[in-house]
Amino acid sequence: MIGKNIEKAIQLLEAGKLVAIPTETVYGLGGNALNEDAILKIFKVKNRPFFDPLIIHVGSVEQLSQYAINIPEEAYLLAKHFLPGPLTLLLHKSDVIPSLITAGSERVAIRIPNHPITQELLKQLDFPLAAPSANPFGYISPTTPQHVASQLGGQLEYILDGGPCNIGLESTIIGFEKGQGVIYRKGGLAVEAIEDLIGKVAVKAHSTSNPSSPGLLKSHYAPTVPIVVGNILELAGQNKNQRLGILAFQDTYAEVDATTKRVLSPNGDLSEAAKNLFAMMRALDKESIDLIIAEWVPEKGLGRAINDRLKRATAK
Ligand code: TXA
Ligand code: MG
Repeated sequence: MIGKNIEKAIQLLEAGKLVAIPTETVYGLGGNALNEDAILKIFKVKNRPFFDPLIIHVGSVEQLSQYAINIPEEAYLLAKHFLPGPLTLLLHKSDVIPSLITAGSERVAIRIPNHPITQELLKQLDFPLAAPSANPFGYISPTTPQHVASQLGGQLEYILDGGPCNIGLESTIIGFEKGQGVIYRKGGLAVEAIEDLIGKVAVKAHSTSNPSSPGLLKSHYAPTVPIVVGNILELAGQNKNQRLGILAFQDTYAEVDATTKRVLSPNGDLSEAAKNLFAMMRALDKESIDLIIAEWVPEKGLGRAINDRLKRATAK
């Protein structure tokens, strides 16, 4: 079920089966992006609505032009600097991409994951891999093979084990509207790093109920236990009668009486916090608690994506 056998993964994928794949961001539920049966299986296993398009994964920058046309200069510049890496490019699709992948949109989301196992896999396949995060629709993304197994294990042929994800947040998604860069999802590549390279971009990551891109929906990435975000001391005071789980950034909040506590990064390091976020949310979700109390992290660099996920986790 969980293993490191790339050959086995290749055989399954070539036969139209699904395999969970490791990436530096989160684990993906991978299938042949050019095979409609495989794509349909992905939607089914994830319980994902057909209006939510899938990202395709390729091995190299050279392959971008196989699946996209009219690629802007800025996209190549970004690709040259950041790919393979936690950035997804939203580009005009070429005819070989089935419209099931893009939910009917003319644009396709493409990314080049930076993980040695998946790099090797993509090198050996002669098709791109469609891979949404390997979690049931709306739940927290998986950052270990065990996370995948615990929820989708029964419906999957194989989970390729690449260890815990290095970055731990989904890729940043960027597209181009009238020549300007637009961020549709804040993620594992900081907006600041993108702006240093191509100048000011627009950030549309907070639009609410746009059904063409449900990853942007207000409620997403959510644990089952309710979660509130704010000042931990105040929130703890307001919810004294409940069994509490604390999700803190740096502080241990020794003075707060809670059933359980997690600290994202004792040193206040945003990369470490990003890497721990989803695993800690999942761990809290398994405890016998009534409410998760969390706090915002500094709104800069990866902190912007962490706060975005916290915000969506609270929306019900
Ligand atoms: O880091 C990642 O991007 C991970 C790993 C596995 O690669 N994948 C991932 O996929 O997060 P998923 O499906 O969970 O999130 C992709 C988001 C969705 O919110 C989807 O709506 C949006 O990207 N998306 C995909 N294709 C799109 C398109 N053609 N136009 C607009 N949004 C698109
Ligand atoms: Mg997802």
